[in-house]
Amino acid sequence: MDADEERPWAGPLAPLLAMPGVTDVLVQEPGVAWIDSGGALAPVTVDLPDVEAVRALAVRMAGAGGRRLDDAAPLVDARLPDGTRLHAVLPPLAPDCAAISLRSVRARALDMDDLVASGMVTGPLGRVLRAMVARRLSVLVTGATGSGKTTLLASLLSLVDPGERLLIIEEAGELRPAHPHVVRLVERRANIEGSGAVGLPTLVREAMRMRPDRVVLGECRGAEVREVLSVFNTGHRGGFATLHANTPADAPARLVALGSLAGLDQRTVELQAAIAFDVVVHVERDAGVRRVARVATLVRSADASLTAVDALTWERGRWVEGPAWETLGPRLGVELGAVGLHAA
Ligand SMILES: Nc1ncnc2c1ncn2[C@@H]1O[C@H](COP(=O)(O)OP(=O)(O)OP(=O)(O)O)[C@@H](O)[C@H]1O
Ligand SMILES: [Mg+2]
Repeated sequence: MDADEERPWAGPLAPLLAMPGVTDVLVQEPGVAWIDSGGALAPVTVDLPDVEAVRALAVRMAGAGGRRLDDAAPLVDARLPDGTRLHAVLPPLAPDCAAISLRSVRARALDMDDLVASGMVTGPLGRVLRAMVARRLSVLVTGATGSGKTTLLASLLSLVDPGERLLIIEEAGELRPAHPHVVRLVERRANIEGSGAVGLPTLVREAMRMRPDRVVLGECRGAEVREVLSVFNTGHRGGFATLHANTPADAPARLVALGSLAGLDQRTVELQAAIAFDVVVHVERDAGVRRVARVATLVRSADASLTAVDALTWERGRWVEGPAWETLGPRLGVELGAVGLHAA
């Protein structure tokens, strides 16, 4: 099948989405698309002659994702038939030209072997991650935009015992783990009249009534942090969530900021987060390489504030143990000899 047949909704962007290694296709002016294929963003000429053509394509793609995009609803976050995530903004919110952001998502989740092959998971980390899943630790995946959080999470979910039931709650329905028993809940935005919204906090609460073995929040980005902390604090071990944070050290402040959206004070968030998450797994993107670069735990320090303490850090091409490994290692049943830390 050629690219245009496979993604008829993508118009002149279809061949770009079909290029191997392209993860993002971005348009914000006529005639040019910027593509991310690992290195720096690169411009490519595309047949979108004027701002009307860009707008028409954005509207058509939103329609293909079952969403409306027009003057009354000038913003859309949708999932396209092949799994690609679409974000689009129309004027006047994007004053010069409609802005289109496409993130390609693989039809098949990358598994742990793929992540090892791509260099995202190195040395003893594969064993460490497998043990986290098997021993039902609650995992918070952190990283900057596009660092690979969702990809890593999908591969961790693929490691969950097939006999367990996964309840996945998401904004846009991106996670497709290789697992036989998955229930997916995706939030619904308000309609034009402003009614009908069903948000993530409600879905997290509903998920609890659906006999989950594992509760998964695709991305923690708002007031639903309150429900997630509450679920992870009330005996539901082995859950997963991702959070935008540039380093694990930023995660506590980020959780506190999100908690404040739900009316939680700092102390409450810190107290609950320390119990809720057993481990933080941090992904980084450096010179085109996405890798897990840090494993940490969230600990309340002497003044009761929440801090991230390193367990394993990737430094100059090898893994280095941090102070939190002393307690995390035995919990995981993983021993690292000096040789283990070096192993590729
Ligand atoms: N190990 C990998 N090998 C190859 N491609 C990868 C790898 N990890 C991530 N990618 C690709 O990089 C892109 C970004 O990854 P992903 O969506 O997981 O990042 P993210 O941190 O969740 O982004 P966002 O902040 O937008 O939620 C995706 O297209 C994904 O397929
Ligand atoms: Mg993501």
